[in-house]
Amino acid sequence: MSLSVESLARIAIQLQSGISHQDRFQRLINTLRQLLGCDASALLRYEQRQFRPLAIDGLAPDVLGRRFSLDAHPRLEAIARAGDVVRFPADSHLPDPYDGLIPNRQDLKVHACIGLPLFADQTLIGALTIDGMDPAQFDHFSDEELRLVGALASAALTNALLVEQLESQTITPLSISNIPAGKPGTEMVGLSEVMRQLKREIEMVAGSDLNVLITGETGVGKELVAKAIHEGSSRAGQSVVYLNCAALPESVAESELFGHVKGAFTGAIHHRTGKFEMADNGTLFLDEIGELSLSLQAKLLRVLQYGDLQRVGDDNVLRVNVRVLAATNRDLKQEVLDNRFRADLFHRLSVFPVHVPPLRERGQDITLLAGFFCEKSRERMGLKRVALAANCLSLLKQYTWPGNVRELEHAVYRATIIARATQQSDELLLEAQHFNQVPEQMDTPPVALDVPSLGVDQGLRDATDDFQRQLIDNTLNNCARKWSACARMLDMDVANLHRLAKRLGLK
Ligand SMILES: Nc1ncnc2c1ncn2[C@@H]1O[C@H](COP(=O)(O)OP(=O)(O)OP(=O)(O)O)[C@@H](O)[C@H]1O
Ligand SMILES: [Mg+2]
Repeated sequence: MSLSVESLARIAIQLQSGISHQDRFQRLINTLRQLLGCDASALLRYEQRQFRPLAIDGLAPDVLGRRFSLDAHPRLEAIARAGDVVRFPADSHLPDPYDGLIPNRQDLKVHACIGLPLFADQTLIGALTIDGMDPAQFDHFSDEELRLVGALASAALTNALLVEQLESQTITPLSISNIPAGKPGTEMVGLSEVMRQLKREIEMVAGSDLNVLITGETGVGKELVAKAIHEGSSRAGQSVVYLNCAALPESVAESELFGHVKGAFTGAIHHRTGKFEMADNGTLFLDEIGELSLSLQAKLLRVLQYGDLQRVGDDNVLRVNVRVLAATNRDLKQEVLDNRFRADLFHRLSVFPVHVPPLRERGQDITLLAGFFCEKSRERMGLKRVALAANCLSLLKQYTWPGNVRELEHAVYRATIIARATQQSDELLLEAQHFNQVPEQMDTPPVALDVPSLGVDQGLRDATDDFQRQLIDNTLNNCARKWSACARMLDMDVANLHRLAKRLGLK
C-alpha cells in the first residue's frame, strides 16, 4: 500500500476544515497533488448530463467556467458509466477534456489519466479526475487505494450538497436525488461576491410568487435571471411565455397581450389568445417593459391589480393567475419622474426589484465566463480544442465591457472564427490578436465573417492576405464603405488601414 493511513486521515481532516465549500474542495484537490503527485486534477459536480468543475489544480483558470457535456466528452462519459475507478491507457484514443488546458503543456497525447466517479446512494454526483504527464505515474497506486480517495471525496461532496439544501430552506426531506439542478443553458456562471448575492436574491424571490422587476444594463443577463426565477418557482412545470414590449406596434399590442375575438375589428377573422391567457397559472416575461405605451401600461395595471382581463371585442371578463417578470435596461424611476412610466405600475412591478450588476463590477468572473464561452464555441463549431492564451485573459480582464456578458460571448465566438481561419486547425489557441476587434459599442453588429475556404497548397502569407482582404471588405460593407468607420471597427489606425488596403489591392 503506498498511501499511508496518515495521509488518508489528512484528507479526511482537510475536508472538515475550511470556511466555505469552495475552500474545502480546493484543499481536497491540493492534498491530492501532494499525495498522488499528479500534474493536474479536478473535482467535478455531475448534473443534467454534464460535469461542472468545483475545484481545479494544475489547469488553466478558465477551466472553472467550462461545462463538459457527456455527449461531447467521451472520456467523461466513460467515467460516468463505469461505476468504479477508470484507468485510461496512456495511448487512449479518447480525447482528454483538458487537452490544451494544462499551462505550458500543449499536448496530452500520451499521459496517465484516472477518473473516479463519485456516488451518493447509487446516484452519480460527481467525479475526480487525475492526470499525470508520465504514462506510468500512477501505476503504483492500487484500485483499492484510489477507491478510498474517491469515497472521501464522495462524502465531502454529499455533505456540501446537503448543507446547501438546508441553507436554501427547502422543506422537502433531505436526499441527494431531490437537490434541484439548473437546466443546462440557463446556468448563471459566476463566483464573484455580487453574483453570489444575486443568486441568493433570485432564490429568495423565486419561491415568493411576487412580480419582479429585473433591471440592469444591456447584455448583463436579465433574461437569464428571469428564467432562473421561473425555474426556482412553483410554476416551473409550465413554460415561460415571452413578450418583447419593444417589438409591439401600438395597433396590435393590446390583442397580443389580451387576445381578441373574431370580428372585434377589421381583419380579426379568427379568435386570438393573448399572452396573458397563454401564461395562465404560469409566468409571463415582459421584456423591455420600459417601452410600453402609457395607455397599455394602464391596461396592464388593471390585470395586475384584479387578475381579470378582457379580450378585445369581448364583454366577458376572464380571470387569470399569472406571475409577471418584467425587465428593462432603462432607469424606470427616472421614467416615472419624466412622466413616461406610470408610478402605480412601477410600484406594482417593483415590490421586489432585482438588479443585475454590469460585468465590470464582477471582473473575476470574466475568466470563468471566457472559459464557459470557449467550451460552448468549441462544441458549436465542432472543434477539438479552444484554449485561451494567458496574455489574452489579462487583456479580457482589462477591458470594460460596455456590452457586458453578451459582448464577451460574441467576442469569444468571433475570436474562435478568426483563429480557425488563421491557424487552419481544429485545435485552437485564442490569443490577444484574435480579440483585437472587440467593438467599442454593443450596437455595432458583429462583423459578419465569411471565413474563406483556404486551400491547403496556399502559404501562410497568402492565406493571411486572403483573410484580411475578406475581413476588410466585409467590414466596409457593414459600415457603408466608410474607411474611418471600418478602421474603428477593426480597431486600427485609419492611415494604416489605407496602407494595408493598398497593399492587398483593395483600392
Ligand atoms: N452569468 C452568465 N452565465 C452565462 N451566460 C450568461 C450570463 N449572463 C449572461 N449570459 C449570456 O449572455 C447573453 C446575454 O444575456 P441576456 O440576454 O440575458 O441579457 P439581457 O440583460 O437580457 O440583455 P438586453 O438588455 O440586451 O436584453 C446570453 O447569451 C446569455 O445566455
Ligand atoms: Mg434581454
